[in-house]
Amino acid sequence: MGVKGAFGRWSSYSLVLLCILGIYTTPAVSVKKENFKTCDQSGFCKRNRAYADTVTSTSGFKSPYTLEPASVKFDHGVLSGTVIKSLADGATVRLPLTVALFDSGVARVTLDEEKRKKGEIDLRHGSKARKERYNEAEKWAIVGGTKLSSGAAMKAVGKVATSVVYGPESKFEAIITHSPFAVEFRRDGETQIKFNDKAFMNFEHWRPKVEKPVVEKKEGEEAPPEDTTGEDESTWWDESFGGNTDSKPRGPEAVALDISFPGYEHVFGAAEHTGPLSLKETRGGDRKYSDPYRLYNSDVFEYEMDSPMTLYGSIPFVQAHKKDSTVGVLWLNAAETWIDVTKSTASANPLSLGIGAKTTTNTHWISESGLLDVFVFLGPKPQDVIGAYSELTGYTQLPQHFAIAYHQCRWNYVTDEDVMDVDRKFDKHRIPYDVIWLDIEYTHEKEYFTWDPMTFPDPLTMQKQLDGHERKLVYIIDPHIKNTDNYPVVDELKSKDLATHNKDDNIYEGWCWPGSSHWVDAFNPKAHDWWKTLFRYDKFKGTAKNSWLWNDMNEPSVFNGPETTMPKDNLHHGQWEHRDVHNLNGLTFVNATYNALLARDKEEEKHNVRPFVLTRSFYSGSQRMGAMWTGDNQAIWSHLEASIPMLLSLNIAGFPFAGADVGGFFGNPSKELLTRWYQAGAFYPFFRGHAHIDTRRREPYLAGEPYTGIITQALRLRYSLLPAWYTAFHEASTTGAPIIRPQYYVHPSDDKGFAIDDQFYVGSTGLLAKPVTVEGAESQELYLADKETYYDYFDFWAYEGPGKEKVAAPLNTIPLLMQGGHIIPRRDRPRRSSGLMKWDPFTLVVVIGHSGDAEGTLYLDDGESFDFQEGAYIHRKFAFSTAAGSLQSEDLTTAGTSTSKKVKAYLASMAQVHVEKVIIVGAPSAWQSKAKVQVSETASGSSSSATKDVPFEFVAKDGGKAAYAVVKNPGVAIGAGWKIQF
Ligand SMILES: *[C@@H]1O[C@H](CO)[C@@H](O)[C@H](O)[C@H]1NC(C)=O
Repeated sequence: MGVKGAFGRWSSYSLVLLCILGIYTTPAVSVKKENFKTCDQSGFCKRNRAYADTVTSTSGFKSPYTLEPASVKFDHGVLSGTVIKSLADGATVRLPLTVALFDSGVARVTLDEEKRKKGEIDLRHGSKARKERYNEAEKWAIVGGTKLSSGAAMKAVGKVATSVVYGPESKFEAIITHSPFAVEFRRDGETQIKFNDKAFMNFEHWRPKVEKPVVEKKEGEEAPPEDTTGEDESTWWDESFGGNTDSKPRGPEAVALDISFPGYEHVFGAAEHTGPLSLKETRGGDRKYSDPYRLYNSDVFEYEMDSPMTLYGSIPFVQAHKKDSTVGVLWLNAAETWIDVTKSTASANPLSLGIGAKTTTNTHWISESGLLDVFVFLGPKPQDVIGAYSELTGYTQLPQHFAIAYHQCRWNYVTDEDVMDVDRKFDKHRIPYDVIWLDIEYTHEKEYFTWDPMTFPDPLTMQKQLDGHERKLVYIIDPHIKNTDNYPVVDELKSKDLATHNKDDNIYEGWCWPGSSHWVDAFNPKAHDWWKTLFRYDKFKGTAKNSWLWNDMNEPSVFNGPETTMPKDNLHHGQWEHRDVHNLNGLTFVNATYNALLARDKEEEKHNVRPFVLTRSFYSGSQRMGAMWTGDNQAIWSHLEASIPMLLSLNIAGFPFAGADVGGFFGNPSKELLTRWYQAGAFYPFFRGHAHIDTRRREPYLAGEPYTGIITQALRLRYSLLPAWYTAFHEASTTGAPIIRPQYYVHPSDDKGFAIDDQFYVGSTGLLAKPVTVEGAESQELYLADKETYYDYFDFWAYEGPGKEKVAAPLNTIPLLMQGGHIIPRRDRPRRSSGLMKWDPFTLVVVIGHSGDAEGTLYLDDGESFDFQEGAYIHRKFAFSTAAGSLQSEDLTTAGTSTSKKVKAYLASMAQVHVEKVIIVGAPSAWQSKAKVQVSETASGSSSSATKDVPFEFVAKDGGKAAYAVVKNPGVAIGAGWKIQF
């Protein structure tokens, strides 16, 4: 939930009107673009684009950066030296360089500024800011993978270049050219990534402001000529936008670098934006953007489609992909950042244009301040890059099981009675859901950690009713704290001095939902300690153990601030300017909340339970703390359509627990749109319906038939596939693998599929979904990359790949196929909530592939605590072989055979949970006459056990529908070893 805007009420009214008149085509509301800067309005962006233009148009331009050969040292996996920047007047600037090589095969290049490091600069305006360049982004973003490589070695030290070999089997090489300074990364002798190849590198060094004499123009004389000899200083010393002036006490300090990917046609990443997964070019020409991709976390409500404009979160990580090779870079800088993307095509053979032509993608990274700090990933597989990135920034947390089920939200459920009524209505209509949410109106006058006594007089009874069906409550707490009297929270914030300061180093005051507010400075460890105390059950009375958190507005959103956020010259803990840390702000706040919830249950309840927090703003690393959603979208088809590439882009960027508001936040969706959105939402890793305060109520039971029934089916589908989703979350939490997977990730050799971003696979299940996102669609065309059979999920219609296949998609259908070769775990009994499915039996769907085999996994634990870390979990591999005529369940647990009480108790509790059905899709016709199969269960340790006969049913091929067979009630435990012999 975000800014309503002064026109919120009017706009929803006009939407309704237009719908009634039937002339509704384009949204009546859209982002206030003029509130946000273009590159041209952002001094450092404009300067660096101009620099790139000068470089390009100056023949024989020489980049002024040189690595001093004598300064180069190599020690324990780190190369260090000094890069010299030569200025026009002959002076030089010293820039300390490090190139660190890690065991994981990742390389890291950093460049700092010696004078700033030593604090030998003067700040203007008496600023109390730090003098160094910001060097703490790693403290928040990086949690592992930085063990220095002992195998890395200096290969050559020449006059012209120095090179180091590193990585697996020393197949990686970094070649550092001394003059001009440039770095080339090779894998197996082939160039993959180049730094400063285009000479756009620009490190704006500190300099004192030289006041130019003001020449008075005398009566009757010509104006004196402007000084055009120097650089354009107009945006160096201060900068105004939208009535706010940034004081810039350190003057110009941008860092910029061009990073090229020779031979790579596609670049993915740089979330969060609304455009296609494969990034578009940003300079010149038709169908290209005119601005760079911008990363400056902002409250951009009613955002526009297909745009490089910034949104709420930033992940400065991109992957370049070509046939059979993926590489990537992480630009670790938390300041405002812009990325230009251009492509150039050079023909390998000039006489055969087009044939063998190679596209190179060039990226130009521009940050306002901070270090130049780049991590380089050389692949070669998509998972190698995403896995190494995830090892560095942390894996997505394994969420509590309820968190991957359905969430019902609205701004606002207005009373505790209202919440209980909605809860009862879901039950009455037999619609499953797990969590109901409270937006800001539950508070007493927007004071967080309070309940409105008129509307929520008895929150505990409400939470108790929810708990009766294992349901949860999520309430919102934002980082702005109301500046008012008689509010102990703000009193403590002030007296403990834990709020963000303004440029004069006094407490900063701005406007948000409560009116005048202060902002918790979550960069301060003491603020984390204090934040912890506020969530205690005995402090925030009325909260129960089934209540969890939503952190919104943490970009931070400041209604009266520049670009709806904080002034850049505000000061945070450690005297860092807001400018330096802006994109990390949201992460630090969620981190504080996560830790507070951890403490709440651990310290007070001795309950080792996994926190749940949803965030709107994020950075690399936020995935460790919880889920994100794509903010304030609109109830129009284009926003439904864009949600899929947006979520795919997050899934390949290490932040897979992502969702978009189902139904669209602003405006009233048609019933068809709402229905289609639930069908798509059933495939979002984070699945939540949400709506703006000015919209009509739209809980699924209100839609009426056939819509309510169809939406219920979509929800049941999600619930039935929860075992598959939870397994995918487990994989993500251990390897960083995406939960929903784009074509290039699953089929990295199939270049026809690299740009496809409207269909995706779910985890490793082989489920291929392409939700309908256009009005009135009756069918959907899916692209099958491989020579494999894909079966319709619902009726087993068989499609043969490779190629495009048209699948019928009337309103009651979700285009969903099963790729041959997989085994999919399900739980098919309809329940009110996922918590009530804990002891339900499983169905296994064996989808036979071309090879005659199929394989799948299942991960399971208590869905709540951290006991899985001690071994209290079940992890099985199911393997089917036509040749052997058998299906087997094998153990995949790696935690060893822990014999702790907890583990034993968990496994004993699961012994009663069985497989109730096995469905074999694409069953061999030779099974036609079979009436029974043999089932044997192997207790762990022993190798054999008694065999029993179990009934078997075969259903023959019917037109295009594949033959299938069903084993009914094999009676084996889900956690046990067993074998079914056909
Ligand atoms: C939160 O930040 C602190 C301090 O940087 C860090 O020690 C902790 O691991 C972070 N929490 C998570 C869940 O990443």
